[in-house]
Amino acid sequence: MGTTNNATSQMRVITNTGEMIHACREANRPLGLVPTMGALHAGHLSLVDRARADNSTVVVSIFINPAQFGPGEDVSRYPRDLDADLDLLRYHGVDLVYVPDVSEVYPEGFETWVDVGSVADKLEGLERPGHFRGVATVVSKLFNVTRPERAYFGQKDGQQTVVVKKLTRDLDMGVEIVVCPTVREDDGLAMSSRNVRLDPEQFRAGATVFWALSQACELWSGGDVDADRLRAAVRASLETQPLFQQIDYVSVADAETLEELETVTGPTMVSVAVWLGNVRIIDNIIVG
Ligand code: PAJ
Repeated sequence: MGTTNNATSQMRVITNTGEMIHACREANRPLGLVPTMGALHAGHLSLVDRARADNSTVVVSIFINPAQFGPGEDVSRYPRDLDADLDLLRYHGVDLVYVPDVSEVYPEGFETWVDVGSVADKLEGLERPGHFRGVATVVSKLFNVTRPERAYFGQKDGQQTVVVKKLTRDLDMGVEIVVCPTVREDDGLAMSSRNVRLDPEQFRAGATVFWALSQACELWSGGDVDADRLRAAVRASLETQPLFQQIDYVSVADAETLEELETVTGPTMVSVAVWLGNVRIIDNIIVG
């Protein structure tokens, strides 16, 4: 078992890909990878702590991946605070941090992409075409650089966990994908790097998202397995919040294939995307 939480453990920060490959080859195994885009909060750190508990070496990547942002989504506005991130990671006992430049990950002439197929076309994929191609490609590259035994992802991005599991299976990556629970504010709002762009009133309104999802859970617990009724209950609950400008989707889908359901029989992901100010909030819960 590696180092435990302390402020003095040695942590290496590496920007060069060749150096990172070498450091991971030399590292004690098993190695756990936590991919992030930085602006770290308690949600990210829960993945780091889980990785620390499971592995001899913990690697975190911080890379704002331009390939997963659409034309209308401004990469330059994504929050960043590298110094604070590195302090947090040091405190949480991380061994290696990979912080490559965009030109390091996508050098001139880069043209190999990973497309995962149907699970990427729905929900977020419909609203953000090309998003999961960018995610799948960068995650594949991070797996190749670090060759982890395990990689850690948050349930918060439910469809992303499905996409990553699929690509790992389809491409025989041999990486165990560990999905960790969504970390929430006290009132239920799922933590997200983008929440810093909410004003205090919007921040409070954000709690309605989790409350709305909980309505579906409550109906289902009471024996209602009709997916349309669950969708309607979630939508009606979201509509009680005047600060939500737009509901992009309310989905009740098979948790593995993400196919929309008529009846809830097995593991089911109830997910939503809504706009609050200029922040798009996504969240989900699993029922069944
Ligand atoms: P990012 O949004 O930085 O999230 C990194 C990881 O932290 C993801 O697995 C995400 O699901 C998890 N996470 C975020 N908020 C969480 C919360 N409130 N509770 C639990 N886990 C949470 O997701 C990405 O970056 C990127 O798409 C990435 C996988 C790094 C590829 O670029």
